Amino acid sequence: MTEGWNHVRRVVCPGSFDPVTNGHLDIIDRASRLCDELVVAVLINVTKQSLFTVDERAEMLREATKEHGNVRVDMFHGLLVDFCRANDISAIVKGLRAVSDFDYELQMAQMNYSQAGVETLFMPTNPLYAFLSSSLVKQFAQYGGDVSGLVPDSVIGQLRDRLAGS
Ligand code: PNS
Repeated sequence: MTEGWNHVRRVVCPGSFDPVTNGHLDIIDRASRLCDELVVAVLINVTKQSLFTVDERAEMLREATKEHGNVRVDMFHGLLVDFCRANDISAIVKGLRAVSDFDYELQMAQMNYSQAGVETLFMPTNPLYAFLSSSLVKQFAQYGGDVSGLVPDSVIGQLRDRLAGS
């Protein structure tokens, strides 16, 4: 039973992370226990408008994961499977919050496997964070809502500053 896992040495957890939430961190923490190294890869997407730059997002992730010895934060553009090939990554890990996440995630997983042989591992999101997304956090914070408990403490101040216009 454990044989398969011996092949999963380096795993990637990809996303936009604009900004990282406690839901992301829960998946990162749990996934990091299943592999030798977990690479958190921030997508560089020039066409999608974001609140934080890729460097800021990566820095927030580094701060939030600094206690994890086997988590590395990186960034990528283009295809995720090309990033996997270049970094000797055998699997992608994704959190699934609800059935609504599943359709598109399944399509991407099948595409990535059929075209590049890269596996995807789905991990059920902790129910505590099932409703959580970066976009809802931004919306809530924008109108003065309290997002403590939803994002790491280190992100709260940065969110407040950015939404205040700095
Ligand atoms: O946090 P997000 O925005 O939901 O993350 C989406 C992400 C980055 C995981 C996904 O868009 C992705 O893998 N993009 C890279 C481009 C790519 O490989 N597309 C083909 C998927 S079949």
